[in-house]
Amino acid sequence: MEQAVSKEEIRQLSLEARREGKRIALVPTMGALHEGHLSLVRAAQTRADVVVASIFVNPTQFGPGEDFEAYPRDLERDMALLSAEGVDAVFTPSADAMYAPDAQVTVDPGPLGELWEGTSRPGHFRGVCTVVAKLLSLVSPDVAFFGEKDYQQLVIVRRMAADLDFPVKIVACPVVRDPDGLAVSSRNAYLSPEERRAATVLYRALREAETLVCGGERDGSFVEQAMRDTVESEPLAVLDYAALVDPRTLVRVAEAPGARAIIAARIGATRLIDTMAMPSSV
Ligand code: PAF
Repeated sequence: MEQAVSKEEIRQLSLEARREGKRIALVPTMGALHEGHLSLVRAAQTRADVVVASIFVNPTQFGPGEDFEAYPRDLERDMALLSAEGVDAVFTPSADAMYAPDAQVTVDPGPLGELWEGTSRPGHFRGVCTVVAKLLSLVSPDVAFFGEKDYQQLVIVRRMAADLDFPVKIVACPVVRDPDGLAVSSRNAYLSPEERRAATVLYRALREAETLVCGGERDGSFVEQAMRDTVESEPLAVLDYAALVDPRTLVRVAEAPGARAIIAARIGATRLIDTMAMPSSV
């Protein structure tokens, strides 16, 4: 497995692969790798000749008071995991290598970036779009892989690639869950054992929504209220939002079937998000 730390190295690596007529996949990550990331790598391997992963804890997508400093980092472990999966190359730039000190142009995520996560995390999606645009430019992949767990991120990255004409296909991979339903996330590492147990409430709320829709419930606000009630029954959880939205526009919908359920809650000091597609017809 090759490691590139500079922009020149990753550009060169990608150029060589392209010259050899190889199809390139990008799996962008912030490290602290888990089964969710590895599922992206495995999906990438089925769709490309060369898989490039990036590990970069992107400072510009963290707001003041968020967990940028505390974000789990273990490059040695991450590299071993990627190497064991047969990843071809890893891009591990420093923040100084990634951003020039006088950099000032950023990518505006548009109105989608103001909704949901954007309300709680102003500037977050501008940081995400800017770094993803830079990674796409440096690696020039044919295909790039994103987890559905960060559903709003996925929708915004798709829009960005379409609106700014990046010649890349954005592929979504399903949420990976622990056996008790909790969506795997690097931030789960922050949870105490008691919080870890309480954190399954996000999944329980989504399942409650799914069960209602499967049972014929069509009223979006009724289903949303049921999700809220589930979260409120968990003393360690503080709900941020629980909503049924249009899967592409992320605008709240009145009709539950076919909607995307999205949820965010704090469990102690840890903010978690999760999502589930609601069945379209029953
Ligand atoms: O989902 C993530 O880990 C990050 O937001 C991403 C896409 C790697 C950009 O920093």
